[in-house]
Amino acid sequence: MKGMVFTELLGFVEQTYGEDAVDDLIEGSDLPSGGAYTAVGTYDHKEMQSLVTTLAAQSNTPPNELLSLFGQHLIRRFKASFPDFFRTAPTLFDFLESIDNHIHVEVRKLYPDAELPEFRAERLGSGTMHLDYHSKRPFEALASGLILGAAQLYGEPVRVESSALEGDGEKFVRFSIRKTGATA
Ligand code: HEM
Repeated sequence: MKGMVFTELLGFVEQTYGEDAVDDLIEGSDLPSGGAYTAVGTYDHKEMQSLVTTLAAQSNTPPNELLSLFGQHLIRRFKASFPDFFRTAPTLFDFLESIDNHIHVEVRKLYPDAELPEFRAERLGSGTMHLDYHSKRPFEALASGLILGAAQLYGEPVRVESSALEGDGEKFVRFSIRKTGATA
């Protein structure tokens, strides 16, 4: 997993729980790299799981809730660094459709060793979308937070439900995303 995801996680921890929490987290986690992350480096994604497990214990918050909150933070950081991905997608559903065929394609050009998931989007009428998350890594709670955060940025509130499915012998997670109609 790219170092920028780790540096952003530590930024999120500092902002939410304070500077000392970052030191406690690094000291309390099992990190073969030692925890001195650089944005362009690449680290085992298991270190992310280790950090989230430790932070969950230290902050008394379930790991999936933390990953979702981190996803909501991360998407705002992505918007600051990559505003064009948002500018070229006028609505939330346009944006979510563009992850697989545009955003992550460009990410791969920037970071050829990125480990990216696959997303398949399908619109079911104007207010509902299925977004299927295919990955060998278990970051669906992060994906869920990124979706919720993007919905906030677009001012298009949604409800997101996830279900674990299997097709063609492969497991994946389906996000059912429904616009709730209220304005932000
Ligand atoms: C401007 C928008 C986005 C940018 C710049 C971006 C960029 C990235 C980057 C750099 C990584 C790390 C790759 C690695 O660690 O090797 C990543 C991973 C990931 N992205 Fe995106 N992303 C964006 C939007 C989204 C959205 C909206 C979602 C959710 C629906 C998403 C879901 C994920 C997930 C779940 C991963 C973790 C890897 C995995 O699950 O296999 N991304 N993305």
